[in-house]
Amino acid sequence: METIKMAIAKGRLAKYSIELLEGIGIDCQVLKEDNRKLIFSLASHNIEVILLKAADVPTYVEHGAVDMGIVGKDVLMEQEKQLYEVVDLKFGNCKFSVAGKPSNANGKKHLRVATKYPNVTKKYFTEKGQSVEIIRQEGSVELAPLMGLSDVIVDIVETGKTLKENGLVVLEDIASISARLVLNKVSFKTKKKEISPIIDLITEKVN
Ligand code: PRP
Repeated sequence: METIKMAIAKGRLAKYSIELLEGIGIDCQVLKEDNRKLIFSLASHNIEVILLKAADVPTYVEHGAVDMGIVGKDVLMEQEKQLYEVVDLKFGNCKFSVAGKPSNANGKKHLRVATKYPNVTKKYFTEKGQSVEIIRQEGSVELAPLMGLSDVIVDIVETGKTLKENGLVVLEDIASISARLVLNKVSFKTKKKEISPIIDLITEKVN
C-alpha cells in the first residue's frame, strides 16, 4: 500500500478539513497538537498530511509533491492550475464580490480595483467590458477604498462582517466559493487503488 500525500490549507479551512477526515474514520489527533510541525503522519491510514498556506496547495498538487489537497475554490479560480477538482466539500462557503462605499464609483469609465485576486478580477471586468486598473494587495483589502487607494475591491465575503464594520457594501456578486478536494493528475492513475476509497468516503460524507 503506497502512502497518500495530502495537503491541507492552513487557516479558516483547516478545522473543517480535519473534521471531514475524522468524519470518515481517520484519526487526526496529531494534526491538532499545538506545535510548529509541518508534516504529519496519520499512520492508521498510511496518509501523510502537510499543512500549507492556501495559495501554495495547488502548486504542490500540480507538481505531484502531494497526491491530493483541500483548498478553497477562490484559490483555484485565481491560479487555474493543472489538477483535477473532484469533490465540492461544501464547507468554507463564501462568495467573490465587488464591494465598495455605498456611494460607489459605478458609472466611472475607469475603475481602480484593489484585490488579492488579480486574475479573477481581470477576468470578471474584462468579460463585462469594464476598463480597470488592478491594485494588488496582500491583505486587509477593505482599507483600499476607505483610504482612497481604490474605487472598489474584489474580495471574498463570508459573513459580511468585515465589510459592514468598515462601512462598505457588496455591489456585485461574482461567484460562489467553497472548499474543494483536488487531485494530482498522475496520482489519480498511479495511486487509484489507494485514492479512490478516500474520494468515495469523502463524497458520501459531504452529500
Ligand atoms: C478575508 C477576506 C475578508 C474577510 C471576509 O480575509 O479578505 O477580509 O475574510 O470575511 P467576513 O465576510 O466573514 O468578514 P482574511 O480573514 O482571510 O484576512 P486578510 O484580510 O488578512 O487576508
